Amino acid sequence: MLAEHTASVIAWLPVGPGPRRIVDLGCGTGAGTLALAERFPAAGLTAVDSSAVHLERLREKAAAIGAADRVRLVEADLDAPDWPDLGRPELVWASASMHHMADPDRTLRQVHELLAPGGLFAVVELAGFPRFLPGDAPADAPGLEERCHAALDRHHAEQLPHRGADWGTLLRKAGFTVEGERTITVDIAAPRADAVGRYALSSLRRMRGGIESELSPADLAALDRLLDTDGPHSILRRDDLSVRTERTVWAARRA
Ligand SMILES: C[S@@+](CC[C@H](N)C(=O)[O-])C[C@H]1O[C@@H](n2cnc3c(N)ncnc32)[C@H](O)[C@@H]1O
Repeated sequence: MLAEHTASVIAWLPVGPGPRRIVDLGCGTGAGTLALAERFPAAGLTAVDSSAVHLERLREKAAAIGAADRVRLVEADLDAPDWPDLGRPELVWASASMHHMADPDRTLRQVHELLAPGGLFAVVELAGFPRFLPGDAPADAPGLEERCHAALDRHHAEQLPHRGADWGTLLRKAGFTVEGERTITVDIAAPRADAVGRYALSSLRRMRGGIESELSPADLAALDRLLDTDGPHSILRRDDLSVRTERTVWAARRA
């Protein structure tokens, strides 16, 4: 869903003629890795994640676009004090992964050490899960999505304390020079309604796990009606969805 925005973030990075060695930290299933591979066709990429399942999915996707020989997969825990050999990259990319780190100060110092002198670290963070429903929906529980987000914020304050951190300040503290910061507003509506519906369904399903005990019984029931793909209130049946969020990118240089 966010491919166009990812491409625009990558195009904005101050990386000169093009890095030859790129590392994607917390690559997930590789949306960023493959966008970087497309933008920098001469580069070799190392994609790191602690999830073997995500890495396997990335391996399949890289093979499908003929980029398997350029993408090295590394299963590793980035919270570990010692990382496996990730080479000497000129660009390190971390999208929606830095806030997962147990000790971001240490991770940022490790990235600083990893980068080639003069290299760039791009930190991309999303302002939480996107919003999908109109503010007055659904009819049986208007404003439900905002209440879900408020509950999730309370949950994340305990589970993911570094979500929403001031990455510019943390990057400077780790020795980087922050050359740029840019916030992109994402607002994607129809005509890709099917894809928006599937994205909304998977996001709200994941949110539900963290907020179940926080919602009122009426809100939980309304949420479950939206998530019931066989039911008449399924979110997949709605034609008024959009994807609304913000993404911020920091471009930080190792001197
Ligand atoms: C929200 S996903 C982002 C995936 C991808 N970068 C993207 O932008 O779509 C966060 C990823 O970070 C990975 N991750 C979280 N903690 C990690 C750790 N300590 N070491 C390695 N990977 C980690 C997760 O497995 C997950 O794939």
